[in-house]
Amino acid sequence: MKNLRLISASILIASLAAVAPALHADTASPAAPAPAKAETSTPLEIQMHRIGKSVKALKKLIGDPTKNAASLQLVAVIRDAANTSLTLVPKKAADLSGPARDKFVADYQAGMKQFIAGVDKLSEALAAGDNAAALKDLRDLFGIEKQDHKLFRKPEDR
Ligand code: HEM
Repeated sequence: MKNLRLISASILIASLAAVAPALHADTASPAAPAPAKAETSTPLEIQMHRIGKSVKALKKLIGDPTKNAASLQLVAVIRDAANTSLTLVPKKAADLSGPARDKFVADYQAGMKQFIAGVDKLSEALAAGDNAAALKDLRDLFGIEKQDHKLFRKPEDR
């Protein structure tokens, strides 16, 4: 009987020892930092962020005619970033080859040129002090953004 108790106690100790590291690992894991994201921004993503930041600030100012000088500065940044973007190639092009890739790049460039034309229109409206027209032009740019993101971004990035 005594022997039996001793054996059961040893089994209990042995099984506790076996699960202990697992319990420890469980409590330790939430504190472990997530692995760093290995991704870096593409040159086009950097320009897109410039556009995104300026557009966000512009949305707040565009209705206020007393802020047109500041709005025009933001538009100049958007224009510059779009102009640089015109010289870059979206990531999605790497999934294509031959004539399909050429067409994709040409379509992207046409889309960016259309966007730049819209930015110039917006700039002219602001310079003329026509804030209602400028607001409409900005809305049109959001329409172009939506359409072009569908066409030129990788589906998993959208
Ligand atoms: C109001 C206008 C626009 C805004 C605010 C905007 C903003 C952005 C943002 C925030 C990203 C994500 C960047 C990242 O993942 O780090 C992006 C990506 C992208 N945008 Fe735009 N965008 C605009 C217009 C356009 C236009 C007109 C085009 C094409 C003609 C375009 C093509 C792309 C592409 C291809 C990407 C993926 C980047 C890559 O492939 O390297 N965007 N955009």
